[in-house]
Amino acid sequence: MTATDDRIDDLVGKLGLEEKVRLLTGRDFWTTWPIEEIGLRRMVVSDGPSGVRGEVWDERSPSLNLPSATSLSSSWDTGIAARYGAVAAVEARRKGVDVVLGPTINLHRSPLGGRHFEAFSEDPLLTARLAAAYVRGLQDNGVGATPKHYVANDFETDRFTVDVRVSERALREVYLRAFEDAVVQERAWLVMSAYNSINGATATENELLETPLNSEWGFDGVVISDWTAVRSVRSAKHAQDLVMPGPRGPWGDKLVEAVRSGAIDEAVIDRKVRRILHLAARVGALEGFEPVEPARSEDGAAFAREAAVEGSVLLANDGILPLAEPARIAVIGHNALHARSQGGGSATVLPERVVSPLDGVRAAFPDAEVSYSLGAIVQEGLAELDRDAMRNPVTGELGARVEMLDAQGALLFAEDRLASGLVYFGGDAPIGELATLVFETDYTPAESGPQRFGFASVGTGRIFTDGELVAERTTEAVGTDLGAAFLSPPAVSAPVQFRSGRSVRLRVEFSPQRVDGGLSNALSITIGTEPADVDADELIADAGRAAAGADVAVVVVGTNSRVESEGYDRTDLSLPGRQDDLVRAVLAANPRTVVLVNSGAPVLLPWREQAAAIVLNYFAGQEYGAAVGDLLTGAREPGGRLPTTWPAALDDVPVLDVTPVDGTLAYDEDIHIGYRAWLRAGAAPAYPFGHGLGYTSWSLTDVTTTPFTDGVTTVGLTARNTGGRAGKHVVQVYASRPDSAVDRPVRWLVGFATVRAAAGEVVDVRVPVHERDLAHWEDGWQHEPGEYTLHIGTSALDIVATTTVRL
Ligand code: BGC
Repeated sequence: MTATDDRIDDLVGKLGLEEKVRLLTGRDFWTTWPIEEIGLRRMVVSDGPSGVRGEVWDERSPSLNLPSATSLSSSWDTGIAARYGAVAAVEARRKGVDVVLGPTINLHRSPLGGRHFEAFSEDPLLTARLAAAYVRGLQDNGVGATPKHYVANDFETDRFTVDVRVSERALREVYLRAFEDAVVQERAWLVMSAYNSINGATATENELLETPLNSEWGFDGVVISDWTAVRSVRSAKHAQDLVMPGPRGPWGDKLVEAVRSGAIDEAVIDRKVRRILHLAARVGALEGFEPVEPARSEDGAAFAREAAVEGSVLLANDGILPLAEPARIAVIGHNALHARSQGGGSATVLPERVVSPLDGVRAAFPDAEVSYSLGAIVQEGLAELDRDAMRNPVTGELGARVEMLDAQGALLFAEDRLASGLVYFGGDAPIGELATLVFETDYTPAESGPQRFGFASVGTGRIFTDGELVAERTTEAVGTDLGAAFLSPPAVSAPVQFRSGRSVRLRVEFSPQRVDGGLSNALSITIGTEPADVDADELIADAGRAAAGADVAVVVVGTNSRVESEGYDRTDLSLPGRQDDLVRAVLAANPRTVVLVNSGAPVLLPWREQAAAIVLNYFAGQEYGAAVGDLLTGAREPGGRLPTTWPAALDDVPVLDVTPVDGTLAYDEDIHIGYRAWLRAGAAPAYPFGHGLGYTSWSLTDVTTTPFTDGVTTVGLTARNTGGRAGKHVVQVYASRPDSAVDRPVRWLVGFATVRAAAGEVVDVRVPVHERDLAHWEDGWQHEPGEYTLHIGTSALDIVATTTVRL
């Protein structure tokens, strides 16, 4: 027992049963209960993980939008990951947030997983190293980290109810690995329990919360539930500590009764309370305890730009990049103008602005003539109204007026908004009482032509233009998932004719469909436009003409919010709309074409052999375009290597299935996911795990190893930058054990190092390889003695040297 433990025990002793039990369920969506008598203030938790949204989902309280986790993991750089966490901590403190609900460290088991963009990698070691660094960056700066979702929450279909069947070995070696490092090495202050079941028990009632988390790893933090994941009083018997959201929930009075009747021991409650108070002490929410003092801070926007460069993967380059001062550049693609800076769902933050790739190209090549063509429609569903085109009819300022009325039409609440995407998920608006929400703005479109105007939400809405009712429609939720219904609701729209520069009053009167339970006080509605029927062939032909007349074409292809979001999985990997036809037409018109990929997860690039260069930028955060400028001019080198295999065709993917059968999904492939599965199947991907080019060249020579000492061997080698400019290289070490007595991956990642060197510079590289990473799980960690081969490579397929070590 430490002195802190003693003092916390004293405080627990001062609380009555009701008070203690109340503390175990949130006070609302994002906060915990304060208890003044013992000097406890409320604590604020917030999504993340690629930025910090804060207590409200509101454009008037903007957040720094960092690149998505797939971009971060592509850096293969724990230094970047730690700074990412530190920058998130600065944001958290600015927003009064004590705990960030991240990192998301589930694995890329299938590229169809809807939250792929939010997780790091298909490899457990790479995920673990980066996740641990992110946790350290947050917590060294006084903000709690919440690795999530514990565990096997690697897909979205039926996520509340699905039972994932997975072997103990796969759990230990693959799915639990990053949680283990976050807890054992970085002492994560929280862990979030998942929605799904694992081997028959739902995560919030699963024995895995006790073993290995508490009993083996010594977790002393708070297990916070995923939102609405706790479903019974019984769950209180398990190592589930905090129920979110509140204030209603399955514990409350029922749990008090269960303790009074002797069904649950009060000591079980005390243990949870103690952990919550310990967290409060750590974040500075409990009087008399010294919180962790912030260690550092840095400029968030500058970091976001650097991270976007470090996370961009140069998939192919015939030498066209960096671009040599082109006079005419044709920028093409929907996402070049309307970039996706982040994936959809609870991870969404609202940036003040996003630098689009088009803006980035214009800024980076100020002397070039830069044209823009749309090329193809990518948007599905509604896009928010352009903020600069909206005027609030009440204030005359930029924005819109929102009013909430009761059933008699009396005004309950009014606000002046700047954006037309409205999410009430926490905050003061009386969502539980409103009958009708009225949105009104004077909208001055930039372009003339037919469009569709409407709303996306679940309920009944009336759509008006200039006072005239143009449509009345009711929408139903698709599926039962709160993510799908709430975070990406169905849209309806009616045709409208816009005239450039002519203001039109847009009004929507909306009556939400009521929901019970945890979301009864939440509402999401987007008011916006979608393209009317367009001539897709003409768009492509236009883009082809622009490309033909330019020195270089830069095409940005990508996904949309219906493809990559929380709440549902993907159904295929093709680029939405006619984008493949677009790229082919542009390539035919001008072979000097650079393709930038704006997706958070793998997409198929069937024309990839023909493109002069392909850069994968992912969802690159708010500084996306600035990073694109840096990469195209060569001011900076793309620093990324794939953290996940990119397939050439959907059918090639060895582990794909995300659809439960009779409520279960069996992880039959066991430990063989990602490149391990590809190697075992002998299948060739489009781009392997670990792949990524740079703007210089390297040689790796003189490989050595040391004998194991204290469980570690060190691989040494010489890396020489043989090119003409400074650059970065990622040296990867894989292990294999051909004669093993157990089923093993063909090879698996056991270490890596990020190397940076000036032109001609020679660097001594040392990569520690831990005995534990050669071990397998069979009723405990087993170390099979004998000889292991270590493969030094630049991807899972490109091995440049091998050596051996003896265990
Ligand atoms: C997500 C979590 C998130 C929580 C709160 C859930 O639906 O699965 O990742 O932290 O909502 O928004």
